[in-house]
Amino acid sequence: MRQIELGLRQEAHVKIDDTACRSVLPNRSLQRKGRLIVGNCVDIMRSWPDDIAHLTVTSPPYDKLRDYKGYDFPFEKIADELFRVTAPGGVLVWVVGDRINGGRSLTSFRQAIYLQEIGFSAHDIMIYQKKNTPFTRSNAYTNAYEMMFVLSKGKPATFNPLKVPTQRHGYEMLTHNKLPDGINKKKLGELKKEKTRTNIWSYAVGLGGTTNDKIAFQHPAVFPEKLAEDHILSWSNPGDLVLDPMCGSGTTGKMALLNDRDFIGIDISPEYIEIARQRLSSLGLSVETLQ
Ligand SMILES: C[S@@+](CC[C@H](N)C(=O)[O-])C[C@H]1O[C@@H](n2cnc3c(N)ncnc32)[C@H](O)[C@@H]1O
Repeated sequence: MRQIELGLRQEAHVKIDDTACRSVLPNRSLQRKGRLIVGNCVDIMRSWPDDIAHLTVTSPPYDKLRDYKGYDFPFEKIADELFRVTAPGGVLVWVVGDRINGGRSLTSFRQAIYLQEIGFSAHDIMIYQKKNTPFTRSNAYTNAYEMMFVLSKGKPATFNPLKVPTQRHGYEMLTHNKLPDGINKKKLGELKKEKTRTNIWSYAVGLGGTTNDKIAFQHPAVFPEKLAEDHILSWSNPGDLVLDPMCGSGTTGKMALLNDRDFIGIDISPEYIEIARQRLSSLGLSVETLQ
């Protein structure tokens, strides 16, 4: 059985059987490449070996809120396959909102609990705040967020924290060593120029916010490309394999390829895969579609 090597990071080198999946896995001797695959992601992932994806950034259909042409969404089977194909130390970012009218469905929480039960660690629960077009309601506060469950297979192998500038920086007398007697002592210390971001991330949505790529809006539920990029930069390194098993208009793929990661995207809809293909190709990104 001929073997090929996948993965640049020392800790994540994986030997895979290329007879099973040579057609879908990137060839590292070439420029970073995106693969787009039409199909039910459960069936596609089942043909792959274990432990190959360093990062998945994906968003499932939300409580049948949108018309995805009636396609099947077998959540538990998708979750099981995602756990299997995630590399040790790899991360799954699951971006999801609940049906709100008629009481919150809490589907997002049920999904997160299932993902934890099958072995993912609930590394963080982050908030994707929408700066504009929030969902107004007559009997509750305007809803302006979705959840971003950050799930890891073991301890995350990579965390490249994104930073924001601090309000004040330089040297100041700072309070330190507060003992149980409650007396504050002061000591000269440095306030840093930047600090790690919080786990609430805000994005404008719509044209110019979500993306400037008009073609993406032919898909009914695109997430902001900056959201995808921020997770890619945080939880993966150049050369890693990024996956989106429900890739829609190809947002995760665009940002993975622009940031020197390999990418595999799957969508059950040939129309959405064609939108993703056109979107990535029009940006000069290397992409191949597999039926
Ligand atoms: C919320 S959308 C993803 C949008 C994407 N994040 C973007 O920015 O364009 C969910 C996608 O899941 C796809 N989908 C639903 N069930 C699927 C399945 N079983 N296998 C693969 N794709 C599926 C739908 O066709 C839809 O495009």
